Amino acid sequence: MTSSEIRKKYLKFFESRGHKIIPPAPLVPKDDPTTLFTTAGMQPLVPFLLGEEHPQGKRLVNIQPCLRTDDIDEVGDATHNTFLEMMGNWSLGDYWKKESLEWSLEFLTEELKLPKEKLAVTIFAGDNDAPRDDESMEIWKSLGIPEDRISPLGRKDNWWGPVGNSGPCGPDSEIFFWTGEGQPKDSPGENPLWVEVWNNVFMEYSKTSDGKYEPLSQQNVDTGMGLERITAVVQGKNNVYETDIFKFLYEAIEERTKTSEVKSLRVIADHTRAATFLIASGIEPGNVERGYVLRRLVRRAVRAAYRSGIERGFFTELAKIIINKFSAFYPELKENENKIYETLMEEEDRFQEPVNRIELYKQDLEIAEKEGVIKKIGTIPILKENKVASGLYVFENYQTYGTPPDLAQDVVEELGLTFDKEEFDRVTKEHQQKSRTAASGKFAGGLADHSDKVIKGHTATHLLHRALRDVLGEDVHQTGSNINPERVRFDFTYGKKMTEEEVNKVEEIVNQKISEDLQVEFRIMPLEEAKKTQAIGLFNEKYLDYVKVYFIGDYSKEFCGGPHVSNTSEIGRVKITKEESAGSGIRRIYATIE
Ligand code: ALA
Repeated sequence: MTSSEIRKKYLKFFESRGHKIIPPAPLVPKDDPTTLFTTAGMQPLVPFLLGEEHPQGKRLVNIQPCLRTDDIDEVGDATHNTFLEMMGNWSLGDYWKKESLEWSLEFLTEELKLPKEKLAVTIFAGDNDAPRDDESMEIWKSLGIPEDRISPLGRKDNWWGPVGNSGPCGPDSEIFFWTGEGQPKDSPGENPLWVEVWNNVFMEYSKTSDGKYEPLSQQNVDTGMGLERITAVVQGKNNVYETDIFKFLYEAIEERTKTSEVKSLRVIADHTRAATFLIASGIEPGNVERGYVLRRLVRRAVRAAYRSGIERGFFTELAKIIINKFSAFYPELKENENKIYETLMEEEDRFQEPVNRIELYKQDLEIAEKEGVIKKIGTIPILKENKVASGLYVFENYQTYGTPPDLAQDVVEELGLTFDKEEFDRVTKEHQQKSRTAASGKFAGGLADHSDKVIKGHTATHLLHRALRDVLGEDVHQTGSNINPERVRFDFTYGKKMTEEEVNKVEEIVNQKISEDLQVEFRIMPLEEAKKTQAIGLFNEKYLDYVKVYFIGDYSKEFCGGPHVSNTSEIGRVKITKEESAGSGIRRIYATIE
């Protein structure tokens, strides 16, 4: 049975029991500033659950696209999705528990042909605010569900709503299917092989804004069954990605990866689908609210893709598969096809840089993790005791490359480490106090001695170092440097005074390279491998087994802890102002950055 057949069967089943099929509400609620997204089929029906008359009558049914980000961390398991299609039927003060539970059971066993012996249910156990749901207990028993398959559970499990702080809510009765091998055992809540497929909520309460539960003027039924999960169950799959809903998408992803790390592939599938629907709903990526949710979904998908070895630009292809699969039900996908491709591409480009950076950052941490000790690569402590990642490092990534701290934080947490948030906050605060301007939305000042000017100067010294070798020979090597916002001082081995011509030549090369817009990137690599790159500036005693190498385009490779600008074009013009002796066999250059 395909997912489309399940959709049709469901609507038809309830239509033939007096329900009117109503169109789904938009994924992004119109005129409702209190919620970001439609998270349940009942959400657009709140006024009618509270007693307003619905134009279509008292029995309604539909399939509602929903977006839920509460469980975003669960995505990647067998059954959690951010975007889902929720099949729901409602009684607005009409039928009550008996019909509702009876029909649910009938639909599952007669229409979907699920064996009754593999079903279990839960009911509300009761508390101070509402009594135990004995009525549902009796109904289930009368429908032939054995008592040991009926579990009374508390508010955490068997109470639904309200959406937001106040509104309609009530006890619920959930239906579970046994997805394990052999005879069912244990009970829902004890064994995750019992998968929740359908929720019947008996909305007879309204939670007031001061936290009280008051009876509603009418007793409503609100049910919800996720299409993805029930399809997995019906198709005998142990996860939603193997159903026809995700199959093509998932296989397309799988074909192109070098990893079999299932969670990442599932995250790509889930998040790309959610993002595609959000863009079709008119959401544009941004830094707040709905736009930020979209951005975060794309970002997580991009990250999972790169981690899985998927090449850039692949999202358009995925979106195409999604559009083709779902346009029959959601024509807005086809209508917004180009916008979807463009938005996904733009967002991917936007995060290209930080994502690359963070991948390297991740390697940093993995290496340090492997060593299991406090490490210093260059001057940056990357891992502190007890698996706590340095907040300073996250800060520096942010300050230097604009890597969003929450992204860095995600990676840190993914690695099973704790992020030293306190340190990050402290360093950020100190920095903000020192920083005088906040031009272009980025920190403009600098971390004590890591101001923009100093970072530019730092990258300039790498260019100087390389250019000095080009002009004076490979024997030249750096013996020291001192960089402040006013100037760069650079000391190097060389036996005689440089001629004016040599000085001019070095300056010319440096500025030439700056004007070539060269990317500045670092890699963390094992020492032996790094040596093979012939990177300069290695002082044996200072480095460990793994080293960090900064690359300025193809031009310069140098062992260094950073930070640096990300592109030479950020530096401006370098001017050598002085060349003098700094002791026997040592020369010193002063330069300014304009
Ligand atoms: N509103 C209920 C849910 O979303 C049915 O689970």
